Amino acid sequence: MNNFEFKNPTKIIFGKDSIKKLENEIPENAKILLLYGGGSIKKNGIYNQVKAALGTATVIEFGGIPANPEYAVLLEALEIIKTENINFLLAVGGGSVIDGTKFLSAAALYEGLTPWDILADNIRTEKGLPFGTVLTLPATGSEMNSGAVITRAETKEKLSMGGPGLFPEFSILDPQVITSIPERQLANGLADAFTHVLEQYMTYPSGALLQDRFAESIMQTIIEVAPKVLKDPTDYQAASNFMWSCTMALNGLIQKGVPTDWAVHAIGHELTALFGIDHARTLAVIAPSHYKYNFEAKKDKLAQYGERVWNITEGNTDDIAYLAIEKTVAFFHALGINTKLSDYTKDFEGTAETISQRFTDRGWLGLGEHQSLSPDKVEKIVKMAY
Ligand code: NZQ
Ligand code: ZN
Repeated sequence: MNNFEFKNPTKIIFGKDSIKKLENEIPENAKILLLYGGGSIKKNGIYNQVKAALGTATVIEFGGIPANPEYAVLLEALEIIKTENINFLLAVGGGSVIDGTKFLSAAALYEGLTPWDILADNIRTEKGLPFGTVLTLPATGSEMNSGAVITRAETKEKLSMGGPGLFPEFSILDPQVITSIPERQLANGLADAFTHVLEQYMTYPSGALLQDRFAESIMQTIIEVAPKVLKDPTDYQAASNFMWSCTMALNGLIQKGVPTDWAVHAIGHELTALFGIDHARTLAVIAPSHYKYNFEAKKDKLAQYGERVWNITEGNTDDIAYLAIEKTVAFFHALGINTKLSDYTKDFEGTAETISQRFTDRGWLGLGEHQSLSPDKVEKIVKMAY
């Protein structure tokens, strides 16, 4: 096991009807900017619950943060934060609204000229404007981590940012919110969280027995509840396990002391930036090719995953590892998620070269747990995913 430090300061308030507890969490004298997305919260009652809990607090609202939070839209919110002297941000939404809020938290205190530099130059945020979240879509884990991913349509870029200053002060997780989520987004949430675990697990054995079993138990839970969640989002038992699994998949715990990969996400973000494909679906496109291409380096963990998560008992290490990849593809398909780039766009020729060139230009010359996945290898993986 590798050395590690672990601190996660986010307070989680989990459970049925927990949105009303928001009133206890807002700091005194807060001047709040309430941030939300395309308006789903106004149809499903979450907005009304939030407003009721905020009572007489001073609140300004900013709606319209799109899926894959857009830099240009966020700059409008930044202007409001500055002119209105906002001192607390409240994100009510999924990963996109929460990530957008993290960007604003960082940008509000950033002293440089262009906030995009935080992303382009990978500037860590040590201190941000404080914010809390009311999660409406289990998927990203953004409600309990300090990372964010921001999109810029102008340049077709999608880049990550983060730092210890970007943990939410609190996150309210009421599993009942999933009842209004469209099936496509439920499937996305299940696939995204599942792949978050894979990124922190599918590397090489490192003697971290507990972390491996944390990871396996999250994947087993997602596999178990996925059909229930899709069939009946009002099934509270399934919803609550789904929601907590998504948070636990990316709140830092399972990555401590182990090597991590994250190449699937790095490549996937490019597919969203280039084609607008839903984040989770880009992962389902890239992960199978990535694991096949890196089979030799990853086969011990692939086989462990095959045995423990998919209960494969027959065959040697290679057989089990290979079958485990097939099981993963079948799982994505069972969620209704296609796993080839050509399922999403007819315009895929040249994509592999474009992504490889972008990685070269950014100096991303060695991704993955061995920092050895060079742009030419990325190109091959993307081609395999056509
Ligand atoms: O915009 P609204 O109207 O709210 O509708 C949203 C949106 O259309 C809708 N929705 C959310 N909650 C709902 C609901 N509809 C009905 N009922 C509800 N309760 O769902 C749609 C998708 O929302 P979005 O927030 O975009 O989804 P998700 O949570 O999957 O977030 C995706 C973004 O998070 C980033 C992704 O790259 C992407 O930009 N990620 C963030 C991570 C992080 N911060 O740690 C890690 C992830 O790997 C990921 O990269
Ligand atoms: Zn993800």
